[in-house]
Amino acid sequence: MYVCVCYGVTDKQVKQAVDNGAVDLKSLQKALNVGTQCGKCIKTTLEVMQQQLDVT
Ligand code: FES
Repeated sequence: MYVCVCYGVTDKQVKQAVDNGAVDLKSLQKALNVGTQCGKCIKTTLEVMQQQLDVT
């Protein structure tokens, strides 16, 4: 599913970035641009990040 419509970022991409060490919002923004336009996806992005951190 798409997390960030502005940049077409999927939950899969966010999870992959978390696996690669992007474990805070700033790193995810740097890696994927996620949440840097309208910001509406930040909450979901953080939820997906947390989900991934919980399973790893
Ligand atoms: Fe992610 Fe707009 S939906 S910045």
